[in-house]
Amino acid sequence: MKLMRFKVLLVSTLSIIPLLANTSEIVTSPETLEARSLVKAFGNNLKHVLKTSMKSGGPIKALEQCNMQAGPIAQEIALSSGWDIARTSLKVRNEKNSPDEWEMTTLTQFEKRKAAGENLKTMEYAETVKEGDKLVYRYMKAIPTAGLCITCHGGDISQDITKKVKSLYPNDQATGFMVGDIRGAFSLQKIIN
Ligand code: HEC
Repeated sequence: MKLMRFKVLLVSTLSIIPLLANTSEIVTSPETLEARSLVKAFGNNLKHVLKTSMKSGGPIKALEQCNMQAGPIAQEIALSSGWDIARTSLKVRNEKNSPDEWEMTTLTQFEKRKAAGENLKTMEYAETVKEGDKLVYRYMKAIPTAGLCITCHGGDISQDITKKVKSLYPNDQATGFMVGDIRGAFSLQKIIN
């Protein structure tokens, strides 16, 4: 009986080895891995603020929290990592989040990729671009619109939320989104040379 088990173990271990060898052939740059983990930290942090403030004080309180904390959270991660980290969109709430040309192109590409059927959950794009005499690694990851987002970014927003949004962001464009739409993207960059 004992011998049998050992045999099974040996066979399954052997069959895993070529599989591992195969996956390690997919080359993911260290920058991409780092960008992905920063996005995860940033996203989790924001979601935590959103969810806890929605629960404790409702959407108006949550709006104030997003307004006050989104910037500082990004800054904190930027300071500790050496990356520039932000969120952007084709329709922004905060004008400070407006896309630059590269981000605009990437967001437009994301819309095309979505239309072609690609899953938003894993949609990302990375490129090393030359800026002056510097090489900059740039990375973007799509942010899907979830049910939770509709309260403040949907098409049918309550009057008091609209009023609060307009008072904080007179030029708000970030409404009219439906679940499954691309709400925007995380955008990260780092000078690599
Ligand atoms: C309680 C209201 C509220 C909810 C709910 C909410 N947001 Fe926002 N969202 C905001 C506010 C306020 C800002 C502007 C933050 C700032 O000043 O940077 C914002 C900004 C953003 C931005 C940055 C780009 C821009 O438009 O300025 C993205 C991306 C975004 N939200 C995605 C989401 C997603 C995805 C969800 C759901 C998981 C969500 N939001 C839920 C209020 C909300």
